Amino acid sequence: MDSETVNLIATDPPFNKGKDFHATPDSLAAGARFQDRWRWEDDVEGEWVDQLADDEPHVLHVINGSRQSYGDDMGAFLCFMGVRLLEMRRVLREDGSIYLHCDPTASHYLKELMDAVFGKRQFRNEIAWCYTGPSNTRRWFPRKHDVILFYGKSDASPFYRDAVRVPYKEASFTMGGSGSLATKNRTGDYRTGREEALRRGKVVEDYWTDVPSLSVTTERIGYPTQKPLALYERIIKASSNEGDVVLDPFCGCATTPVAAERLGRQWVGMDIWDGAHQIVIDRLEAEGLAGPERTPDRLFTFGDVTYSTQPPERTDAADVASPYLPVSYRRRSERWERLSRAQIVAHLVEAQADGEGVTCGGCGRVLEREFMQLDHITPRSDRGANDITNRILLCQPCNGKKGDRYTLRGLVRENKRDGWLKDETLARIAQDNATAKAERVRNEMS
Ligand SMILES: C[S@@+](CC[C@H](N)C(=O)[O-])C[C@H]1O[C@@H](n2cnc3c(N)ncnc32)[C@H](O)[C@@H]1O
Repeated sequence: MDSETVNLIATDPPFNKGKDFHATPDSLAAGARFQDRWRWEDDVEGEWVDQLADDEPHVLHVINGSRQSYGDDMGAFLCFMGVRLLEMRRVLREDGSIYLHCDPTASHYLKELMDAVFGKRQFRNEIAWCYTGPSNTRRWFPRKHDVILFYGKSDASPFYRDAVRVPYKEASFTMGGSGSLATKNRTGDYRTGREEALRRGKVVEDYWTDVPSLSVTTERIGYPTQKPLALYERIIKASSNEGDVVLDPFCGCATTPVAAERLGRQWVGMDIWDGAHQIVIDRLEAEGLAGPERTPDRLFTFGDVTYSTQPPERTDAADVASPYLPVSYRRRSERWERLSRAQIVAHLVEAQADGEGVTCGGCGRVLEREFMQLDHITPRSDRGANDITNRILLCQPCNGKKGDRYTLRGLVRENKRDGWLKDETLARIAQDNATAKAERVRNEMS
């Protein structure tokens, strides 16, 4: 999808429950199933990890942290989510918002991941969707809430509080002095205006107890993990306007698209389940929102639901989404630009070789190849390229110090100041050799 085209993402991805889900046989969703088990070896592409290491190291730190403390499955799940959340950030408009539905299995790790992708300043709420139902737990409290993580993309993301007011509980109101009904304000004074306040209601808190789970409604269509429309309608009202674009990249049996259509939003739904398209149509028809033909009160027809199994083609020339959040180009890259990380390392090891070891381009130490790490000459955050012409091998301490903070020249300056610069001449030779090698590779492969 093109960058910055979506106002709101409201999505409910897999939760890392470690099991498979199946639809109820004979239901509208019969045959649907999805797997919610994760293995590092099967589900993580090496390319994702390389890309995260290069472009979003803080995201990779969160993934690695969860892998250490919880296990490989959580690391794999977070890696799957991490690369997708970065794309979600790219397609969101600058004033967009995202609601990520999860449960306490992974909500604590996903919040860290969201902080790493969207920034801690953009955290808005951790909403608890509370429900009731039977439970047979004996050693802990019944687990009866889901978590919805709400983030903005920037400070400009709107919140339509008047669209999500709910009635006050009668007990919040008391009788005023003159017999007129009054509300008690924060300082303890009584104020008239009960009717007005009652009429407006209050903005719902970050715990939602008024949306029952689907086991007790007729809305259920048999899709496992189906969520209530009321939940998604509240989200859509809070963070979008009529006509805005709402995206759910894990839309299952189409709860977000149906809620969006009910509220007059445009929407895009995606799912790996090949029956998702038909369910969208079936549910829109059942709701009276779409039919075979246009009528005065039904403008939406089945033909308006466009469906594709191919990813959409970008028409924005792969423009950079946000100046401070560079996105990768989709322009057809040259062969030398597509060298893998391992190939770049091999070329630079050769270029920076010195006897038995490799010279660090930051401090001039000659160390075994195992102590060398690949870094960028100009940091990615300063729009440095990811190809061999902007890469250098540094020793571990230099790589750690440089991070995204310094250019290579800045690192050498800092090393000099800190007394870490071992041999400036050797460092310069390593740098020159790396640059010359990159030029040679580039010419040979062009
Ligand atoms: C928790 S369910 C969503 C349920 C949805 N909110 C509803 O009310 O029906 C998660 C969905 O993610 C889909 N899914 C799993 N892996 C996916 C992937 N790699 N790409 C797209 N969808 C995926 C599953 O098919 C499933 O429908």
